[in-house]
Amino acid sequence: MVRARFRAKVLIYLFIYLFYFDSANLSKTNFYGIAPGGTRQKLDDTVRYACISGYKRKDGVTWATCTRDGWEPNPLCQEIPPCGIPPALEDGDTKTAIKEHYSHNETIEYMCQSYYIMEGEPYKTCLYGEWTGHMRCLRPCIVNEDEMRQHNITLKSSGTKYLVHDEIIEFRCTRGLSTGTVAMRQRCNSGVLVLPTCRE
Ligand SMILES: *[C@@H]1O[C@H](CO)[C@@H](O)[C@H](O)[C@H]1NC(C)=O
Ligand SMILES: *[C@@H]1O[C@H](CO)[C@@H](O)[C@H](O)[C@H]1NC(C)=O
Repeated sequence: MVRARFRAKVLIYLFIYLFYFDSANLSKTNFYGIAPGGTRQKLDDTVRYACISGYKRKDGVTWATCTRDGWEPNPLCQEIPPCGIPPALEDGDTKTAIKEHYSHNETIEYMCQSYYIMEGEPYKTCLYGEWTGHMRCLRPCIVNEDEMRQHNITLKSSGTKYLVHDEIIEFRCTRGLSTGTVAMRQRCNSGVLVLPTCRE
């Protein structure tokens, strides 16, 4: 029993020693070596390495080489810049409260105000210090009574006067016949609704 505990302790110390030894060998602490495991590196030795979270290797580099001047490439790991406050979305907002700093790969979800329709994916991602991802909120259309009266039209069936983007609405003449230049069925296009006209 005592012996087993002692053995476990030795193993833990050995592990800590090897880990510390390796890290110390590879100078800084923002990366770790993967292979070949646990031995001291000699001149011209190469070791596969990775960077700790928040740091990245130089593009395309996966191996570090021990040279007279230390490890190459130098620095082995570069800090990945964080992102600042995410950009505002017109007629929309973020789903969660925003922070001042975001780390690499962090995403934030957006949503549009009611009656607005989102175009694009609702996410922006912090990549290497820049916000990526694009979306916009498409406006609804509001059917105006006065304008309809001026065009001698009304709604074909009683319904809502709020249309979301891409929703279809149908009109009918209150006097005369359609001039035929604009169809009686119209689609709301991001806040724009074209009205047909009727005349006697
Ligand atoms: C970022 O996220 C992608 C997928 O979620 C993952 O494959 C990649 O390793 C991540 N990059 C970093 C540097 O964390
Ligand atoms: C509405 O109808 C009246 C009567 O036919 C006509 O005088 C008027 O020009 C029409 N309105 C429009 C915008 O064409």
